Amino acid sequence: MQYSEKVLDHFSNPRNVGEIEDADGVGEIGNAKCGDIMKMYLKIDGSIITDAKFKTFGCGAAVATSSMATELIKGKSIDDALKLTNQAVVEALDGLPPVKIHCSVLAEQAVRCALSDYYTRQGIDPVPIVGEIKEPEE
Ligand code: FES
Repeated sequence: MQYSEKVLDHFSNPRNVGEIEDADGVGEIGNAKCGDIMKMYLKIDGSIITDAKFKTFGCGAAVATSSMATELIKGKSIDDALKLTNQAVVEALDGLPPVKIHCSVLAEQAVRCALSDYYTRQGIDPVPIVGEIKEPEE
């Protein structure tokens, strides 16, 4: 299996690892098949994501995609984060082997899950904004 330099870099030197104690939104998502789990913490000020951190118990691609996802949403608006697709994460990493694409779905869903939690905490129903959170199936 061939990994790009960027994947290897984000795997061996992941950005934004850890937790945010006073996070405004926290999301956890797992993949039942591989058993990998990703937890995402967001700090939100107004409509801007001022900080993002993650903890991933999973494969190398899951670590690399969560690292890249946090980099892509930090400093961006919630609207931009909601538009973040797993393909965008894969492209930013210069590709992933086909059997590892599902790991990037986990990263996309972890962001959405944390945003869902953010809206729930504000007393706002997240479903019309964020949509249903689905556990990736493969
Ligand atoms: Fe499960 Fe990568 S193998 S997220």
